[in-house]
Amino acid sequence: MLRFLCILVLTFGLSTAMQAQEATPVDRSATGGAQTLEDILKRQEGLKIDDTFRSGQTGNPDTAAATTEQLGTLGGASDPDLWRAYRYNTAAITTQARGPAAEVLIQDGGMRWLVFREGPLLTYGTGLLGGMVVLLTLFYLIRGRIRIDGEKTGRTILRFKAAERFAHWLLAGSFILLGITGIITLAGRKVLIPAFGHEAFATIAIASKWVHNNVSWAFMLALILVFVFWVVHNLPDRTDVNWILKGGGIFGGGHPPAKKFNAGQKLIFWSVIILGGSISASGLSLLFPFELPMFAPTFEKLNALGLPQLIGLGELNTSLAPHEEMQYAQLWHAIVSFVLMAIIIAHIYIGSVGMEGAYAAMGDGEVELQWAREHHSLWTAEVEQKRTEPGST
Ligand code: HEM
Repeated sequence: MLRFLCILVLTFGLSTAMQAQEATPVDRSATGGAQTLEDILKRQEGLKIDDTFRSGQTGNPDTAAATTEQLGTLGGASDPDLWRAYRYNTAAITTQARGPAAEVLIQDGGMRWLVFREGPLLTYGTGLLGGMVVLLTLFYLIRGRIRIDGEKTGRTILRFKAAERFAHWLLAGSFILLGITGIITLAGRKVLIPAFGHEAFATIAIASKWVHNNVSWAFMLALILVFVFWVVHNLPDRTDVNWILKGGGIFGGGHPPAKKFNAGQKLIFWSVIILGGSISASGLSLLFPFELPMFAPTFEKLNALGLPQLIGLGELNTSLAPHEEMQYAQLWHAIVSFVLMAIIIAHIYIGSVGMEGAYAAMGDGEVELQWAREHHSLWTAEVEQKRTEPGST
């Protein structure tokens, strides 16, 4: 469900990039129903054309344009027909290679995918991360470090148990490794080969891929652990509304009351769970090529809900070639990862240099009592009350 929701939210952006819809029906009478100059020009511009007028005709001599007409085909068994059959996967092909997609000889989403991957994806993705670093630097310069306002007590209370800290650091360590190796893989051909040469990049790329594929399991395990440990503390409640209205008190507006996690942290938590879950799902689809197609079924559900039609995208294409599925999975995986990386950069800032006393919560698990009273007053009151209850140690 979460993965579906997540796919739903970002699908529209992705679909717009991948699919430019044909606006008006094209008159193909001059070419006897074959493609027109307009179609060819559109394809050359990288726009997707509605080619159902061709894909439905493969291998059927009756639908071939008459040989006598200008630009007519040579009949039902012409070369173009054969190539069209390859292209739309209707030719009877047998291969010695086994496995999914072995019989797909031509798929035409490749160039659009490659151009998007090497261009906008890399540019906007790294721009997003750089932009976040600039924003945080400005924030630090304007607001400075968030200090503990009151007098420190010299006493601490336990904020996170060892198991919780283990899960957090497993998640953090694996995510950072995945982020670095993922960017190396993405930027390799365009940035790293020109900088370091093919030989050096080959070694880096092999190592990166190995680390990325294997560390992904640690990330998925940690994601499950973190979810199980903290979900009860991250359910939205009334205190969140007040916390948000006061902007978390970040610009000197005091400290709005908060339970174990405040609304800002809940946003981080759910971003990690939903986006991390979606990255994991698309990652699994990439890890087991052609075995876990997810986009066609998702597009079908979206079409049935009428959402793409509502925002003018028309019906999304649900008959995706196996390779197109992989292309969508790769782009989705990378886009969602960039968004989560940007969020996590902000999280790392606030959990370390941005706020005095915060790091200790994940360091040794003990936080200064005054810090706890200021940032999580309701939770601290609860813990202190439990401490004073008869029978507590
Ligand atoms: C080196 C980098 C990191 C540092 C220094 C750091 C620090 C912290 C700290 C201090 C807390 C506890 C805050 C509190 O007591 O209320 C925390 C919580 C958390 N961390 Fe991290 N963290 C890092 C990386 C990550 C990464 C990479 C992820 C996920 C991919 C992550 C996910 C979380 C989540 C979900 C929570 C609970 C919600 C929250 O407090 O925002 N952390 N982290």
